[in-house]
Amino acid sequence: MKLSKEEQAMLDGDHGKATQKAMEILVALGTIYGAERMLPVTSVQIAGVSYDNLGEAGLHFLTEMVDGGGRARVLTTLNPAGMDIENWETLGIDPEFAEKQTRVIDAFAQMGVITTCTCTPYLSGNVPHYGEHIAWAESSAVCYANSVIGARSNREGGPSALAAALTGRTPAYGMHLDKTREPGLTIEVEASLVGNDDFGALGKVIGDQLQGMDSKPIVFLRRVRQASLEQLKSFAASLATYGGAALFHMEGITPEAVMHDPPADSLRITATGLENAKMEMTDCNEVEANFVSLGCPHLTIKEIARIAELLEGKQVVKEFWITTARPTKQIADRMGYTEMIEASGAKFAADTCCVVAPIKGRFTGMITDSAKACYYASGKNQFQTILKPFDEVVFAALGDGLGETTL
Ligand code: F3S
Repeated sequence: MKLSKEEQAMLDGDHGKATQKAMEILVALGTIYGAERMLPVTSVQIAGVSYDNLGEAGLHFLTEMVDGGGRARVLTTLNPAGMDIENWETLGIDPEFAEKQTRVIDAFAQMGVITTCTCTPYLSGNVPHYGEHIAWAESSAVCYANSVIGARSNREGGPSALAAALTGRTPAYGMHLDKTREPGLTIEVEASLVGNDDFGALGKVIGDQLQGMDSKPIVFLRRVRQASLEQLKSFAASLATYGGAALFHMEGITPEAVMHDPPADSLRITATGLENAKMEMTDCNEVEANFVSLGCPHLTIKEIARIAELLEGKQVVKEFWITTARPTKQIADRMGYTEMIEASGAKFAADTCCVVAPIKGRFTGMITDSAKACYYASGKNQFQTILKPFDEVVFAALGDGLGETTL
C-alpha cells in the first residue's frame, strides 16, 4: 500500500504504540483486500462493546491501547453495551458483569471516544453526510449509512474500527469505491409494506435469497412507494442480518438509486413470500412469551412517543424493555414520555439492547417488531420469538391490549 508521510510515521511508531498498532491493523487489512491507499475518515462507530462479547481478552486489548497512548482523532461513538450504564440494577444485571462493563466503557472514554452506546449513531450526533468516508462497525448502521445517507463504509470489525478512530484512516476498498456500489439484482416488491415488521420481513426474504448466491449482488428495489426513517432502519438491519448486505438502492427513496439502471436479473417479492417469512419468525405461543422488546435498532423519539401514548394509564403484564440511545432517552425524559412509560411497569434499557445484554436463560419467548431481533434472540439467546406490528407488540405487553387501567 502507498502510505502518506503521516501514515508512514504512524506505522513507524512516531505517534505512540497504540497508533502504531492501529496502523498495522489497517495496513494488514488493506493488503488482504488489495487496497492501494488509505482514505481519511470523518466518523467512526465501534462495535464489540458489550463485555458479554468482548470477554477478558477484549478488555485486555483495550487496556493495552489505552496504555499505548491511544486517542481518537475523529468523531467516534460506540455500539450498545451489555447494560444500561446508569440503570443496570433495575434490569437485573449481575454486579460483577457491571463492573467489567464499566471498565470497558472507561477504557473507550480514556481514548477520547464519545461513550454514546447506540446502533443508530445517525440519530445521536454521529451523522455523516452524503459521500463521506466513514468506518462504522454495526451492520445495521453500516447498511443504513451506505444506503439511506449515501456515506461510504465497510462493515468494520471491533479492532479495525478502533484502529480507524486512532488513526483517522481506513483502507480504500469495498464500499469506499464506486465500482463496488453498482447494483446487480433488481427486486420487484409486489407486497404492500405497512410497518417495521413488514420491512424487516422484506429484508429477511431478500437476505435469504442472497445467502443462496455465490456472489451476493447489491440489490436495487423497485415499487416501494414510501419508507419512513424507522422503516428504513428496520429494513437495513434485517437485510444486513439475513443477507450480509452493506448497501441497497431503493428507487425514488435512496440517493444513489438515480445513478443506476435496474439490473436485468430480477426477483419478485410477493405478499405470500412476506407472510411466510413472518411465520418463520414466529414460533412461540403469545401466552407463553415472557419478554417483550422494542428498539432493534434503537428507537427514535417518534417511536417512544407512540409507546408512551399506548401505555398511558395502563399496566404491562410482561417484562417489557424499551431500548434506545441515551440522548434519545433524555429527550423522552424531558417530554414526560419516560414517566408515562415507567408508570406502566415497562422499563427503559438505554445504552444496550435485548441482544447484547446478558439475558440468556432469563426468558424463553420474546415478542418484537424486529426481524433482526428475532434472528439473534433465537440464535444467541435461544428464545422463541413472535414478530408483530409495532402497536401490537405494545398491546401484547399489556396482555392483548386489556392491560389494567390505573386511572
Ligand atoms: Fe441494535 Fe442490538 Fe438490534 S445493537 S440493531 S438493538 S441487535
